[in-house]
Amino acid sequence: MTRKVEIFDTTLRDGEQTPGISLNAKEKLEIAKQLEKLSVDVIEAGFPIASNGDFNAVKAIAEEVRGPIIAGLARATSKDIDRAAEALKPAERPRIHTFIASSPIHMKYKLKMTEDEVLEAAVAAVKRAKSYVEDVEFSAEDASRSDIEFLCRLYSEAIKAGATVINIPDTVGYATPREFANLVTTLMERVPEIDKAKVSVHCHDDLGMAVANSLEAVLCGVTQIECAVNGLGERAGNAALEEIVMALNTRKDFYKVEHSINTRQIYRTSKLVSTITGIAIQPNKAVVGANAFAHEAGIHQHGVLAEKSTYEIMTPESIGLATNTLVLGKHSGRHAFAERLKELGYELPQDELDKAFERFKELADKKKEVTDLDIEAIVEDQAVKL
Ligand code: KIV
Ligand code: ZN
Repeated sequence: MTRKVEIFDTTLRDGEQTPGISLNAKEKLEIAKQLEKLSVDVIEAGFPIASNGDFNAVKAIAEEVRGPIIAGLARATSKDIDRAAEALKPAERPRIHTFIASSPIHMKYKLKMTEDEVLEAAVAAVKRAKSYVEDVEFSAEDASRSDIEFLCRLYSEAIKAGATVINIPDTVGYATPREFANLVTTLMERVPEIDKAKVSVHCHDDLGMAVANSLEAVLCGVTQIECAVNGLGERAGNAALEEIVMALNTRKDFYKVEHSINTRQIYRTSKLVSTITGIAIQPNKAVVGANAFAHEAGIHQHGVLAEKSTYEIMTPESIGLATNTLVLGKHSGRHAFAERLKELGYELPQDELDKAFERFKELADKKKEVTDLDIEAIVEDQAVKL
């Protein structure tokens, strides 16, 4: 049987930490309902201790969203965990996600705690969370810059205390894919209790390697990937959900895993998140950018008109987009131009088509994109002159 990788969506928690985003409960609920349609396994709805607004948002999602696990984030303190537990009370499948930093740099400058103190706090936090809910996730923040011996000890004790998921964050997006794979493999080999918990990764994109690192972890056998729609998240963001899912789909021959995502909801989800958060999607963004299924060069347009798979490794329909687009610009060729004329209702004899194409090329040298209105103007003007 094919192994399943669970998709943990953190758009509403880490994603909301994107500078410039602040979502109210109604907005979060609307996104959560779309995430339910997308069929994610886990929705990290927020950080209940952060504000009353976030507490209420997590509670509303816990009340109204059914299907996915609803997670709430909590530092490794009683106050945070109690607040998360309270917000998650109405959830059908609640999860408390507790974390504490494990790297020397974070322990020294941020926590001002020793390894033993961090270990003690982590165990106490997992136990306290466990007194409220069965499902407890533990993250060692900045795991990728932590001492491996200490990390093994920390995860081992967290599992013994009751953690059902252990999450390995590359908090500052520092790891390279090979290093991250080594870290995950070492932990899977050296934490004796690892089989009793799901293993998860959470990668940030500071060096643009979040998706690559997450996919490397899939090859190492992890069972959960944390990611966010449109790659939103703290600083440069988290691994982009749509990129991970479409990589798993398109290269199923390579990754050989299943997931639960309804990919036909990807485009709609991406648009909704962009509209509500106000964070625009860059045009050349993989999978959901405006150019992801747009072809400009004549050679490419000729290719996709003959057979889409020449230049499309996934179909626009698979992400819920109606069609691809052929953008008419200075690199476009006669085939795409003739095709667009046909779509606009013009059937020109060859000599007129040649003339119109020449005028189109002249215009394309002056304009970035030639629109349908421009093409109609060329043809109509030509008809008047005949
Ligand atoms: O990046 C990080 O380490 C986090 C943790 C809370 C998982 O967001
Ligand atoms: Zn994070």
